[in-house]
Amino acid sequence: MAKTATADYRFYNHSPEVDDFCREVIDGFRQNQRCIPPKYFYDEEGARLFEAICQQPEYYPTRTELSLLEKHAEDIRSHVGDGCYLVEPGSGSCEKVRLLLDTLRPEVYAPLDISCEQLKSAAAAVAADYPWLDVHAVCTDITSEVSLDFIPDETTPVMFYPGSSIGNFDPDDAVEFLACLAQLTGSGGGLLIGVDRKKDHETLHKAYNDAGGVTAAFNLNLLQRANRELDADFNLDAFEHFAAYNSVAGRIEMHLISTRKQTVHIDGQGFEFNTGDSIHTENSYKYTDSEFQEIAQQAGFTLCDTWTDSDGLFSLFFLRVK
Ligand code: AVJ
Repeated sequence: MAKTATADYRFYNHSPEVDDFCREVIDGFRQNQRCIPPKYFYDEEGARLFEAICQQPEYYPTRTELSLLEKHAEDIRSHVGDGCYLVEPGSGSCEKVRLLLDTLRPEVYAPLDISCEQLKSAAAAVAADYPWLDVHAVCTDITSEVSLDFIPDETTPVMFYPGSSIGNFDPDDAVEFLACLAQLTGSGGGLLIGVDRKKDHETLHKAYNDAGGVTAAFNLNLLQRANRELDADFNLDAFEHFAAYNSVAGRIEMHLISTRKQTVHIDGQGFEFNTGDSIHTENSYKYTDSEFQEIAQQAGFTLCDTWTDSDGLFSLFFLRVK
């Protein structure tokens, strides 16, 4: 049967429930340092705001990685070969992979993402623009167990994990997550991963404090989402965006800071905030190449190739499971 111009892709729904969001927010609010896991940024509005962040002049990672992918597509192909099964955890808009598809000519492309609506439209657009490609979209929380039943046992897929999304994990959890990817691909499987490098603090600071206020809106959208989905009553005017580089931990930390004494209710429970109390919403770890290589090695990968831009902002690694 001929493929239709749109939406010819397979879709599997393992998306988390509203109950999970409620439970994780309340669990996070019972801790000393209140926190919300960053995966909850990406509701429909959050996914849209993240795409807008990627367009901001201060947010260098996206454009830097895009130019690395464009420049080194042939080198990447020399490691992957053609006809591979390409799996992208946290695929977002599926824009980056487009720079590889014509060169790599994979047999299957499997975008995995927590943001269902964005995943559906991005997968449909890829399927329409690459009619020769078999697209399997899986709506899932990639930090929980992922199963890829549609991939035959005898294939070793190639993982594509761009954007320095690995930076959201603490280093120990990053090892564990990469080990899960290694498990999914099996021995000999490949991983193409983008990692944001340690650099001067001003560049880092600006990337998470853009003058247009898009990152602030992205951060505050978490509270709006809680109001929409959890019957919460956050006053958006009583919290402010905070992002700063913690040079001891080697990470950008994002918080939402209460600007007054207030009580917030979530699902019938009250939570007190004093002026200056924070909700920790994200870590974004930055790595030197050797620090990241150590993590990759601990997770069971060997290094095949590395590419870095001439300003030393961002690195791409091609790794293989031992
Ligand atoms: C998608 C996790 C890689 O850490 O830079 C961008 C998310 N947060 N601006 C990052 C983000 C604020 C982004 N990652």
